[in-house]
Amino acid sequence: MNITIINGPNLNLLGIREPGIYGNEGFESFLTRLRNKYSDITIEYFQSNHEGDIIDKLHEAGFGKTDGIVLNAGAYTHTSLAIADAIAAINTPVIEVHISNVHSREEIRHRSMISGVCRGVIAGFGLDSYRLAIEAFVK
Ligand code: DQA
Repeated sequence: MNITIINGPNLNLLGIREPGIYGNEGFESFLTRLRNKYSDITIEYFQSNHEGDIIDKLHEAGFGKTDGIVLNAGAYTHTSLAIADAIAAINTPVIEVHISNVHSREEIRHRSMISGVCRGVIAGFGLDSYRLAIEAFVK
């Protein structure tokens, strides 16, 4: 099984960025633990701060190259019709994830442009949200 994790803007700063909300662990060390735990799954990882690059990655991964996409689109979640269109256009199922519980935060974070075109949404479990998304694909 192949899973692609795509992280959007500012998620390269995990571990440094607002640790009270996003925790103290950087994504690379979390990813090492995740890969060790799911050693029979190939987990590809891509991060970009640029909307178009995220769309290009969805297109690249979304037509048979991978079995499932775990997407944390960061703030683009709340703004990007273009990313929503890309998810709708591809064949591979996408699970939307968030580290924080976006529904307990500012009102602007309550709206997601992408939830409706995703297979499901996991939010609020810290970095474990990504693992839960992988579990959903495994099942
Ligand atoms: C986030 C929540 C978004 O509102 C925010 O813009 C992020 C991270 C999360 O993982 O909790 O960058 O997607």
